[in-house]
Amino acid sequence: MDRKQFMTLVGTSIGAIVLQHCLSGCKNEKDEAIDPNNGPGTGNTGLTLDLSNAAYAALNTNGGYVYVSGIIVARTSAGAYIAVSQACTHQGVSVQYRSSNNDFYCSAHGSRFSTTGAVVAGPATSALKQYKTELTGTTLRVTE
Ligand code: FES
Repeated sequence: MDRKQFMTLVGTSIGAIVLQHCLSGCKNEKDEAIDPNNGPGTGNTGLTLDLSNAAYAALNTNGGYVYVSGIIVARTSAGAYIAVSQACTHQGVSVQYRSSNNDFYCSAHGSRFSTTGAVVAGPATSALKQYKTELTGTTLRVTE
């Protein structure tokens, strides 16, 4: 092995090590609680949210909500967990949960949806997809 081959080999090895560290360091804390291979629509095993994780702190308060993997998960003013698809069926803008009205609202054009995702007011004409939720301790499961 000559000097050039040696330097090429060392450079490639260092590059691989740096890339591996960068990729593992880029993983965000929120993603750790989610198995991307088991989300709704990918085998029906759903999402698992650890409510003790700061990323989901909003779900520990009535009226709070988070977006996870295209789903809005909310805690109603009565303390129940509900989940529907995040994208408004009109033009895809993210809906918000409004505890004061106990509904999902799209600020883009004013569509409103019930807690089950049914259209209450347009212009949207299709319901949001509803997901099931189940709380065990501090673990919230969201499934189809
Ligand atoms: S995108 Fe939601 S009402 Fe138009």
